[in-house]
Amino acid sequence: MSLLNSTSTWELGLSISILLLCAAITVLFSILKAKTPKPVLRPDSFLELSLSHKTQLSPNTALYRFDLPQPTDVLGIPIGQHVSVAAPIGSPPKDILRSYTPVSDDTSPGHVDLIIKSYPSGNVSKYVGQLAVGQTIKFRGPKGAFRYTPNMVREISMIAGGTGITPMYQIARSIVRGRANGDKTKVSLIYANVGPEDILLQDELNDLARKDGNFSVYYVLNKPPPGWAGGVGFVNQDMVKQNLATPADDVKLLICGPPPMVSAMKKIAESLGFASPRPVSKLEDQVFCF
Ligand SMILES: Cc1cc2nc3c(=O)[nH]c(=O)nc-3n(C[C@H](O)[C@H](O)[C@H](O)COP(=O)(O)OP(=O)(O)OC[C@H]3O[C@@H](n4cnc5c(N)ncnc54)[C@H](O)[C@@H]3O)c2cc1C
Ligand SMILES: *[C@@H]1O[C@H](CO)[C@@H](O)[C@H](O)[C@H]1NC(C)=O
Ligand SMILES: *[C@@H]1O[C@H](CO)[C@@H](O)[C@H](O)[C@H]1NC(C)=O
Repeated sequence: MSLLNSTSTWELGLSISILLLCAAITVLFSILKAKTPKPVLRPDSFLELSLSHKTQLSPNTALYRFDLPQPTDVLGIPIGQHVSVAAPIGSPPKDILRSYTPVSDDTSPGHVDLIIKSYPSGNVSKYVGQLAVGQTIKFRGPKGAFRYTPNMVREISMIAGGTGITPMYQIARSIVRGRANGDKTKVSLIYANVGPEDILLQDELNDLARKDGNFSVYYVLNKPPPGWAGGVGFVNQDMVKQNLATPADDVKLLICGPPPMVSAMKKIAESLGFASPRPVSKLEDQVFCF
Protein backbone atom coordinates (compact mmCIF):
# COMPACT_ATOMS: atom_id res chain seq x y z
CA MET A 1 0.00 0.00 0.00
CA SER A 2 2.65 2.49 1.02
CA LEU A 3 4.76 1.41 -1.94
CA LEU A 4 1.82 2.04 -4.27
CA ASN A 5 1.19 5.41 -2.63
CA SER A 6 4.74 6.69 -2.98
CA THR A 7 4.81 5.46 -6.60
CA SER A 8 1.69 7.43 -7.50
CA THR A 9 2.99 10.50 -5.67
CA TRP A 10 6.16 10.14 -7.66
CA GLU A 11 4.15 9.69 -10.90
CA LEU A 12 1.98 12.68 -10.08
CA GLY A 13 5.09 14.79 -9.52
CA LEU A 14 6.55 13.65 -12.82
CA SER A 15 3.30 14.38 -14.69
CA ILE A 16 3.14 17.88 -13.20
CA SER A 17 6.77 18.51 -14.12
CA ILE A 18 6.15 17.39 -17.70
CA LEU A 19 3.01 19.55 -17.92
CA LEU A 20 4.90 22.59 -16.61
CA LEU A 21 7.73 21.97 -19.05
CA CYS A 22 5.28 21.73 -21.96
CA ALA A 23 3.55 24.93 -20.87
CA ALA A 24 6.91 26.72 -20.60
CA ILE A 25 7.92 25.53 -24.08
CA THR A 26 4.56 26.64 -25.54
CA VAL A 27 4.90 30.09 -23.95
CA LEU A 28 8.51 30.38 -25.20
CA PHE A 29 7.47 29.45 -28.74
CA SER A 30 4.62 31.95 -28.82
CA ILE A 31 6.97 34.69 -27.57
CA LEU A 32 9.48 33.76 -30.26
CA LYS A 33 6.73 33.64 -32.89
CA ALA A 34 5.47 37.10 -31.91
CA LYS A 35 9.04 38.47 -32.10
CA THR A 36 9.81 36.80 -35.46
CA PRO A 37 8.88 39.25 -38.24
CA LYS A 38 6.18 37.86 -40.50
CA PRO A 39 6.61 38.54 -44.25
CA VAL A 40 3.25 39.75 -45.59
CA LEU A 41 3.87 40.57 -49.28
CA ARG A 42 2.59 37.92 -51.76
CA PRO A 43 3.43 37.66 -55.48
CA ASP A 44 -0.02 36.38 -56.50
CA SER A 45 -2.48 38.27 -54.32
CA PHE A 46 -2.86 41.92 -53.36
CA LEU A 47 -2.15 43.32 -49.92
CA GLU A 48 -4.10 46.48 -49.17
CA LEU A 49 -2.07 48.97 -47.13
CA SER A 50 -3.12 52.25 -45.63
CA LEU A 51 -1.16 55.50 -46.01
CA SER A 52 -0.08 56.66 -42.55
CA HIS A 53 2.28 59.59 -43.31
CA LYS A 54 3.22 61.67 -46.32
CA THR A 55 6.38 63.81 -46.26
CA GLN A 56 6.86 66.20 -49.17
CA LEU A 57 10.53 66.05 -50.30
CA SER A 58 10.31 68.42 -53.27
CA PRO A 59 7.44 70.05 -55.21
CA ASN A 60 6.70 66.83 -57.13
CA THR A 61 8.19 64.10 -54.91
CA ALA A 62 7.14 62.73 -51.52
CA LEU A 63 7.93 59.93 -49.10
CA TYR A 64 4.87 57.77 -48.47
CA ARG A 65 4.71 55.57 -45.37
CA PHE A 66 2.22 52.69 -45.45
CA ASP A 67 1.40 50.67 -42.32
CA LEU A 68 1.72 46.90 -42.46
CA PRO A 69 -1.17 44.92 -40.85
CA GLN A 70 0.79 44.25 -37.60
CA PRO A 71 3.65 46.28 -36.04
CA THR A 72 5.87 43.16 -36.18
CA ASP A 73 5.17 42.46 -39.89
CA VAL A 74 7.77 42.98 -42.60
CA LEU A 75 7.21 43.17 -46.34
CA GLY A 76 9.65 40.31 -46.95
CA ILE A 77 11.52 41.64 -49.97
CA PRO A 78 15.10 40.76 -50.95
CA ILE A 79 17.59 43.65 -51.25
CA GLY A 80 17.46 44.95 -54.84
CA GLN A 81 13.87 43.97 -55.55
CA HIS A 82 10.74 46.07 -55.85
CA VAL A 83 6.98 45.95 -55.29
CA SER A 84 4.08 46.37 -57.74
CA VAL A 85 1.55 48.98 -56.76
CA ALA A 86 -1.93 48.81 -58.31
CA ALA A 87 -4.15 51.86 -58.69
CA PRO A 88 -7.74 51.85 -60.01
CA ILE A 89 -7.65 54.21 -63.00
CA GLY A 90 -10.33 55.26 -65.50
CA SER A 91 -14.06 54.58 -65.65
CA PRO A 92 -14.88 51.86 -65.15
CA PRO A 93 -11.76 51.69 -62.97
CA LYS A 94 -9.11 49.17 -64.03
CA ASP A 95 -6.00 48.32 -62.03
CA ILE A 96 -2.82 49.80 -63.49
CA LEU A 97 0.42 48.43 -62.05
CA ARG A 98 3.74 50.23 -61.59
CA SER A 99 7.01 49.23 -59.90
CA TYR A 100 8.46 51.00 -56.85
CA THR A 101 11.58 50.16 -54.83
CA PRO A 102 10.97 50.66 -51.09
CA VAL A 103 13.55 52.77 -49.25
CA SER A 104 12.67 50.92 -46.05
CA ASP A 105 13.58 47.28 -45.59
CA ASP A 106 12.86 44.27 -43.39
CA THR A 107 15.05 45.66 -40.57
CA SER A 108 12.27 48.17 -39.80
CA PRO A 109 9.05 46.18 -39.18
CA GLY A 110 5.54 47.62 -39.22
CA HIS A 111 5.72 49.86 -42.25
CA VAL A 112 6.96 50.32 -45.80
CA ASP A 113 8.33 53.61 -47.21
CA LEU A 114 8.17 54.58 -50.89
CA ILE A 115 9.62 57.70 -52.51
CA ILE A 116 7.48 58.59 -55.52
CA LYS A 117 7.75 61.39 -58.03
CA SER A 118 4.29 62.37 -59.28
CA TYR A 119 4.07 63.22 -62.97
CA PRO A 120 1.12 65.49 -63.94
CA SER A 121 0.23 63.04 -66.73
CA GLY A 122 1.41 59.88 -64.93
CA ASN A 123 -1.36 57.40 -64.16
CA VAL A 124 -0.20 55.69 -60.98
CA SER A 125 2.25 58.29 -59.64
CA LYS A 126 -0.45 60.98 -59.87
CA TYR A 127 -3.00 58.70 -58.15
CA VAL A 128 -0.57 58.07 -55.26
CA GLY A 129 0.13 61.81 -55.08
CA GLN A 130 -3.58 62.43 -54.46
CA LEU A 131 -3.97 59.77 -51.73
CA ALA A 132 -5.03 61.14 -48.34
CA VAL A 133 -3.73 59.74 -45.07
CA GLY A 134 -5.92 56.74 -44.14
CA GLN A 135 -6.66 55.76 -47.74
CA THR A 136 -5.37 52.44 -49.02
CA ILE A 137 -3.56 51.12 -52.09
CA LYS A 138 -2.74 47.59 -53.24
CA PHE A 139 0.72 45.99 -53.14
CA ARG A 140 2.05 42.78 -54.69
CA GLY A 141 5.52 41.26 -55.05
CA PRO A 142 8.44 40.99 -54.63
CA LYS A 143 9.56 41.44 -58.24
CA GLY A 144 12.83 41.93 -60.05
CA ALA A 145 15.86 40.15 -61.46
CA PHE A 146 18.40 41.77 -59.14
CA ARG A 147 18.99 40.29 -55.73
CA TYR A 148 21.92 41.51 -53.66
CA THR A 149 23.98 38.98 -51.72
CA PRO A 150 27.00 40.08 -49.61
CA ASN A 151 30.33 40.04 -51.46
CA MET A 152 28.68 38.93 -54.73
CA VAL A 153 31.37 41.06 -56.42
CA ARG A 154 34.41 43.03 -55.23
CA GLU A 155 33.09 46.37 -56.36
CA ILE A 156 29.68 47.83 -57.29
CA SER A 157 29.41 51.05 -59.28
CA MET A 158 26.09 52.84 -59.56
CA ILE A 159 24.64 55.53 -61.82
CA ALA A 160 21.27 56.92 -60.74
CA GLY A 161 19.04 59.72 -62.01
CA GLY A 162 16.17 61.23 -60.00
CA THR A 163 13.97 58.58 -58.33
CA GLY A 164 16.35 55.97 -59.82
CA ILE A 165 18.23 56.41 -56.54
CA THR A 166 15.78 54.12 -54.67
CA PRO A 167 17.31 50.71 -55.57
CA MET A 168 20.85 52.12 -55.18
CA TYR A 169 20.10 53.46 -51.71
CA GLN A 170 18.54 50.17 -50.66
CA ILE A 171 21.61 48.21 -51.83
CA ALA A 172 24.27 50.66 -50.53
CA ARG A 173 22.66 50.84 -47.09
CA SER A 174 22.49 47.07 -46.89
CA ILE A 175 26.19 46.81 -47.79
CA VAL A 176 27.24 49.36 -45.16
CA ARG A 177 25.06 47.62 -42.58
CA GLY A 178 26.67 44.30 -43.57
CA ARG A 179 30.23 45.52 -42.84
CA ALA A 180 29.87 44.08 -39.32
CA ASN A 181 29.28 40.65 -40.91
CA GLY A 182 32.19 40.90 -43.33
CA ASP A 183 30.71 42.59 -46.41
CA LYS A 184 33.76 44.16 -48.09
CA THR A 185 32.07 45.39 -51.29
CA LYS A 186 33.34 48.79 -52.41
CA VAL A 187 30.52 51.04 -53.64
CA SER A 188 30.79 54.18 -55.80
CA LEU A 189 27.72 56.14 -56.81
CA ILE A 190 27.10 58.90 -59.36
CA TYR A 191 23.76 60.60 -58.69
CA ALA A 192 22.37 62.98 -61.30
CA ASN A 193 19.57 65.52 -60.92
CA VAL A 194 18.36 68.78 -62.45
CA GLY A 195 18.76 71.16 -59.49
CA PRO A 196 19.95 70.86 -55.88
CA GLU A 197 16.33 70.75 -54.65
CA ASP A 198 15.78 67.54 -56.63
CA ILE A 199 18.48 65.50 -54.85
CA LEU A 200 16.65 62.77 -52.91
CA LEU A 201 18.00 61.11 -49.73
CA GLN A 202 20.97 63.51 -49.69
CA ASP A 203 21.41 63.46 -45.89
CA GLU A 204 21.13 59.68 -45.84
CA LEU A 205 23.67 59.27 -48.66
CA ASN A 206 26.10 61.76 -47.08
CA ASP A 207 25.76 59.93 -43.75
CA LEU A 208 26.63 56.62 -45.41
CA ALA A 209 29.68 58.19 -47.09
CA ARG A 210 30.84 59.81 -43.84
CA LYS A 211 30.40 56.58 -41.89
CA ASP A 212 31.91 54.24 -44.48
CA GLY A 213 35.26 54.73 -46.19
CA ASN A 214 34.30 52.31 -48.96
CA PHE A 215 31.13 54.11 -50.07
CA SER A 216 31.40 57.29 -52.13
CA VAL A 217 28.83 59.55 -53.81
CA TYR A 218 29.44 62.07 -56.59
CA TYR A 219 26.54 64.43 -57.34
CA VAL A 220 25.93 65.80 -60.82
CA LEU A 221 23.54 68.69 -61.51
CA ASN A 222 22.14 70.00 -64.74
CA LYS A 223 21.40 73.37 -63.20
CA PRO A 224 23.97 73.81 -60.41
CA PRO A 225 23.75 76.63 -57.85
CA PRO A 226 26.65 79.12 -57.64
CA GLY A 227 29.75 77.59 -56.05
CA TRP A 228 28.66 73.99 -56.76
CA ALA A 229 31.56 71.57 -56.18
CA GLY A 230 30.08 68.48 -57.88
CA GLY A 231 29.64 67.59 -61.54
CA VAL A 232 27.86 69.91 -63.97
CA GLY A 233 25.68 69.00 -66.98
CA PHE A 234 24.77 65.46 -68.02
CA VAL A 235 26.79 62.52 -66.71
CA ASN A 236 29.66 62.03 -69.18
CA GLN A 237 32.39 59.48 -69.83
CA ASP A 238 34.99 61.45 -67.85
CA MET A 239 32.81 61.55 -64.73
CA VAL A 240 32.24 57.79 -64.95
CA LYS A 241 35.95 57.10 -65.48
CA GLN A 242 37.00 59.38 -62.60
CA ASN A 243 34.41 58.33 -60.02
CA LEU A 244 33.47 54.71 -60.69
CA ALA A 245 35.30 51.36 -60.88
CA THR A 246 37.23 50.32 -63.98
CA PRO A 247 35.61 47.29 -65.66
CA ALA A 248 36.69 43.86 -64.36
CA ASP A 249 35.11 40.42 -63.90
CA ASP A 250 34.39 41.14 -60.24
CA VAL A 251 32.88 44.59 -60.84
CA LYS A 252 29.20 45.34 -61.49
CA LEU A 253 27.69 48.54 -62.85
CA LEU A 254 24.07 49.25 -61.84
CA ILE A 255 22.03 51.85 -63.73
CA CYS A 256 18.59 53.30 -62.89
CA GLY A 257 17.03 56.51 -64.15
CA PRO A 258 14.87 58.05 -66.86
CA PRO A 259 15.02 56.04 -70.13
CA PRO A 260 17.08 58.62 -72.12
CA MET A 261 19.67 58.73 -69.36
CA VAL A 262 19.82 54.93 -69.13
CA SER A 263 20.50 54.71 -72.92
CA ALA A 264 23.26 57.30 -72.68
CA MET A 265 24.86 55.53 -69.68
CA LYS A 266 24.80 52.14 -71.47
CA LYS A 267 26.77 53.68 -74.35
CA ILE A 268 29.30 55.25 -71.98
CA ALA A 269 29.71 51.94 -70.13
CA GLU A 270 30.37 50.09 -73.39
CA SER A 271 32.89 52.68 -74.56
CA LEU A 272 34.78 52.26 -71.26
CA GLY A 273 35.04 48.49 -71.78
CA PHE A 274 32.04 47.13 -69.85
CA ALA A 275 30.15 44.22 -71.46
CA SER A 276 27.29 45.43 -73.64
CA PRO A 277 24.09 45.45 -71.61
CA ARG A 278 21.20 43.21 -72.71
CA PRO A 279 17.78 44.78 -73.43
CA VAL A 280 16.48 43.09 -70.25
CA SER A 281 19.12 42.69 -67.54
CA LYS A 282 19.83 39.43 -65.72
CA LEU A 283 21.46 39.13 -62.29
CA GLU A 284 24.73 37.75 -63.73
CA ASP A 285 25.18 40.68 -66.17
CA GLN A 286 28.15 43.00 -65.65
CA VAL A 287 25.96 46.02 -66.42
CA PHE A 288 22.53 45.76 -64.81
CA CYS A 289 19.73 48.22 -65.65
CA PHE A 290 16.73 48.20 -63.30
C1 LIG B 1 12.30 48.58 -61.06
C2 LIG B 1 11.68 49.95 -61.01
C3 LIG B 1 11.70 50.66 -59.83
C4 LIG B 1 11.11 51.94 -59.77
N1 LIG B 1 11.15 52.61 -58.58
C5 LIG B 1 10.58 53.85 -58.51
C6 LIG B 1 10.60 54.60 -57.28
O1 LIG B 1 11.13 54.13 -56.26
N2 LIG B 1 10.03 55.83 -57.27
C7 LIG B 1 9.44 56.37 -58.40
O2 LIG B 1 8.92 57.51 -58.33
N3 LIG B 1 9.40 55.69 -59.56
C8 LIG B 1 9.94 54.45 -59.64
N4 LIG B 1 9.87 53.76 -60.83
C9 LIG B 1 9.08 54.32 -61.96
C10 LIG B 1 7.60 53.95 -61.80
O3 LIG B 1 7.45 52.54 -61.93
C11 LIG B 1 6.64 54.58 -62.85
O4 LIG B 1 7.17 54.36 -64.12
C12 LIG B 1 6.42 56.06 -62.62
O5 LIG B 1 5.88 56.29 -61.34
C13 LIG B 1 5.47 56.63 -63.68
O6 LIG B 1 4.29 55.87 -63.69
P1 LIG B 1 2.88 56.55 -64.01
O7 LIG B 1 1.87 55.46 -64.10
O8 LIG B 1 2.61 57.64 -63.06
O9 LIG B 1 3.13 57.23 -65.42
P2 LIG B 1 2.71 56.63 -66.86
O10 LIG B 1 1.24 56.61 -66.97
O11 LIG B 1 3.44 55.38 -67.08
O12 LIG B 1 3.31 57.74 -67.81
C14 LIG B 1 2.55 58.84 -68.20
C15 LIG B 1 3.44 60.07 -68.38
O13 LIG B 1 4.20 60.35 -67.20
C16 LIG B 1 5.45 60.89 -67.54
N5 LIG B 1 6.52 60.01 -67.10
C17 LIG B 1 6.42 58.76 -66.64
N6 LIG B 1 7.59 58.24 -66.28
C18 LIG B 1 8.50 59.19 -66.54
C19 LIG B 1 9.91 59.25 -66.39
N7 LIG B 1 10.61 58.23 -65.87
N8 LIG B 1 10.54 60.40 -66.74
C20 LIG B 1 9.82 61.42 -67.24
N9 LIG B 1 8.51 61.42 -67.39
C21 LIG B 1 7.84 60.33 -67.06
C22 LIG B 1 5.46 61.05 -68.98
O14 LIG B 1 4.99 62.31 -69.30
C23 LIG B 1 4.49 59.97 -69.45
O15 LIG B 1 3.98 60.21 -70.71
C24 LIG B 1 10.49 52.50 -60.91
C25 LIG B 1 10.48 51.78 -62.10
C26 LIG B 1 11.05 50.52 -62.17
C27 LIG B 1 10.99 49.76 -63.47
C1 LIG C 1 -2.13 56.67 -68.71
O1 LIG C 1 -2.35 58.04 -68.94
C2 LIG C 1 -2.29 58.49 -70.28
C3 LIG C 1 -2.63 59.96 -70.29
O2 LIG C 1 -1.78 60.66 -69.44
C4 LIG C 1 -3.19 57.66 -71.18
O3 LIG C 1 -3.01 58.04 -72.53
C5 LIG C 1 -2.92 56.18 -70.97
O4 LIG C 1 -3.78 55.41 -71.79
C6 LIG C 1 -3.08 55.81 -69.53
N1 LIG C 1 -3.00 54.40 -69.26
C7 LIG C 1 -1.91 53.62 -69.25
C8 LIG C 1 -2.14 52.15 -69.02
O5 LIG C 1 -0.76 54.03 -69.41
C1 LIG D 1 37.97 49.49 -47.63
O1 LIG D 1 37.98 48.09 -47.84
C2 LIG D 1 39.29 47.53 -47.84
C3 LIG D 1 39.15 46.08 -48.25
O2 LIG D 1 38.25 45.41 -47.42
C4 LIG D 1 39.91 47.71 -46.46
O3 LIG D 1 41.20 47.15 -46.44
C5 LIG D 1 39.97 49.18 -46.15
O4 LIG D 1 40.42 49.36 -44.84
C6 LIG D 1 38.61 49.84 -46.29
N1 LIG D 1 38.76 51.29 -46.21
C7 LIG D 1 38.08 52.06 -45.37
C8 LIG D 1 38.45 53.49 -45.37
O5 LIG D 1 37.20 51.61 -44.65
